[in-house]
Amino acid sequence: MRDFIQKLPKAELHLHIEGSLEPELMFELSKRNGIEIPFKSVEEIKKAYDFHNLQSFLDIYYQGANVLIKEQDFYDMTWAYLLKCKEDNIVHTEIFFDPQTHTDRGIEFDVVINGIDRALKDGREKLDISSEIIMCFLRHLDEDAAFKTLDQALAHKDKIIGVGLDSSEVGHPPSKFERVFKKALEEGFLTVAHAGEEGPTEYIWEALDLLKVKRIDHGVRSLEDEKLVERLKEEQMPLTVCPLSNVKLCVFDKLSDHNLKNLMSSGLLVMINSDDPSYFGGYLGENFIQCQKELDLSRDELKALAINSFKSAFMSEENKSKWIKQIEQL
Ligand code: ADE
Ligand code: ZN
Repeated sequence: MRDFIQKLPKAELHLHIEGSLEPELMFELSKRNGIEIPFKSVEEIKKAYDFHNLQSFLDIYYQGANVLIKEQDFYDMTWAYLLKCKEDNIVHTEIFFDPQTHTDRGIEFDVVINGIDRALKDGREKLDISSEIIMCFLRHLDEDAAFKTLDQALAHKDKIIGVGLDSSEVGHPPSKFERVFKKALEEGFLTVAHAGEEGPTEYIWEALDLLKVKRIDHGVRSLEDEKLVERLKEEQMPLTVCPLSNVKLCVFDKLSDHNLKNLMSSGLLVMINSDDPSYFGGYLGENFIQCQKELDLSRDELKALAINSFKSAFMSEENKSKWIKQIEQL
């Protein structure tokens, strides 16, 4: 099965690039940039990755990002992720970045986006991995800050395909950003949003109706609302599910309790993603391997998940068909 999983061409659609920063690189960058981090060793960092909910993770995750200062740092982090993609046979990836995590520390927007974009360009040329960038607004910050970030993104429209919404979900409904997303849509950005990870199903309705999203990030709580399931099924609205993340953040007690299979059998368009792989115990391949084992996924189910990743990607129909055909022939 490991071999079969490795060979499956995959698209990853829910990956925070800051969440791919491995402890080893965090240490290297802390030295390179003279930034203190509150850990003495890689082992100590790994021990601190013991979360009880989304917020307990976010507190450590934003702290980790402090070591990213120069364009080359963003390049190195993104390049390291692309090498992992190559190992896992991820042939297409759509990565999130959180500009406000960096601009609020005085790092220029251009430094962040240019480092990430240059690595992705090299990924296309040297590794044959296609990619897109999605800019996320931090939902715990206010509407004004999101508008300011959107303004900064306008000069980089050629690099950013869409906007998303992440960070602390509960208490920060999608409706808070309705006007920002309206402007983003007018400017030609596609929209996605984290919803129904920890937050209620109402947030998923709002993401659909107010933010006009093309995908729901997570959405695992959808099954609590029959009408919502009908809507998601009818529209074949993709849910970018992140199984290892959900267990690490205690959305489910253990992987064998995860509702991935129920989502699939309810007719929903779901696929597997890694979210923040450096923090949650595995990249996409590892998510596939552990889900296969704990949820007893068949080869056909694994293929369906990989096909769904391409069906849901921001990619030309021609390229989607090319990959889907390859998977069908396996
Ligand atoms: N930022 C990084 N990972 C996240 C997640 N799983 N949910 C919300 N915000 C995030
Ligand atoms: Zn996420």
